[in-house]
Amino acid sequence: MIHAVVTGHSRGLGHALAAGLLARGARVLGLARHTQPGLLATYPEQHRQVAMDMADTAALAAWLAGPELQQWLAGADTVVLINNAGVVQPMGAPGRQGSQAIAQAVAVNVAAPLMLSDALVQASRGCADRRIAHISSGAGRNPYPGWSVYCATKAALDMHARAAVLDAVAGLRVASVAPGVIDTAMQADIRATPEADFPLRARFDALQREGQLATPADVAERLLDHLLSPAFGADPVVDLRTL
Ligand SMILES: NC(=O)c1ccc[n+]([C@@H]2O[C@H](COP(=O)([O-])OP(=O)(O)OC[C@H]3O[C@@H](n4cnc5c(N)ncnc54)[C@H](OP(=O)(O)O)[C@@H]3O)[C@@H](O)[C@H]2O)c1
Repeated sequence: MIHAVVTGHSRGLGHALAAGLLARGARVLGLARHTQPGLLATYPEQHRQVAMDMADTAALAAWLAGPELQQWLAGADTVVLINNAGVVQPMGAPGRQGSQAIAQAVAVNVAAPLMLSDALVQASRGCADRRIAHISSGAGRNPYPGWSVYCATKAALDMHARAAVLDAVAGLRVASVAPGVIDTAMQADIRATPEADFPLRARFDALQREGQLATPADVAERLLDHLLSPAFGADPVVDLRTL
């Protein structure tokens, strides 16, 4: 059986990924600040949720030092971690970003995924099939004005995957996956940002107007097909749109 950990399961792509894994029979532990009552009601046996602010790296470290993760992964044929939780804020040029918001973005987008990856590998030592997917972005591979913090954090995930593959840990596959543009709260946040802070906003307004945003459910299905396929991890940096 697949035993999975999905961060940011409370809405958007993470909710669709958790729902997709549960529908495929996996056990899914979700980590986010908010709960997702619908998933708990539908899958009371397979699903657990832990309230966690991943900007609080001390709280996350304390949870990882406890027994819950190892207990959750015990007995799995396949262990999966999807580092999905992420924030696009702060948007704006250097000088307009703010120390607090930068620290929060780096904690959620980089520190938490790297901490979870390390802890998961340690806690699943007996398992021969372990898969870690970082949810990256095209913004980690191409620079965008107003997104220097977001671009830097997503590039960090890509590089983590590329370097971790070189360690050739037994039974471990890692890849950083750009999912494409998805109709979630994050896109609404982008469209609500003044052009002074995100000069490319009109492009994102047009994507929505022209119906070019993918649904979270469609993206999740394609991402899970790849994640659970034999091909996963062969390329540590992939774009779902060109797979
Ligand atoms: N939407 C797109 O077009 C797009 C494109 C490329 C990449 N991505 C990436 O895809 C991933 C999912 O994005 P989305 O569009 O689904 O975003 P979203 O709708 O804003 O959802 C973000 C998720 O991350 C969680 N999260 C945020 N801050 C957190 C914190 N401090 N602690 C714990 N969890 C936190 C949220 O849970 P809580 O609020 O409950 O904590 C929520 O479940 C992100 O990594 C994003 O960068 C999205």
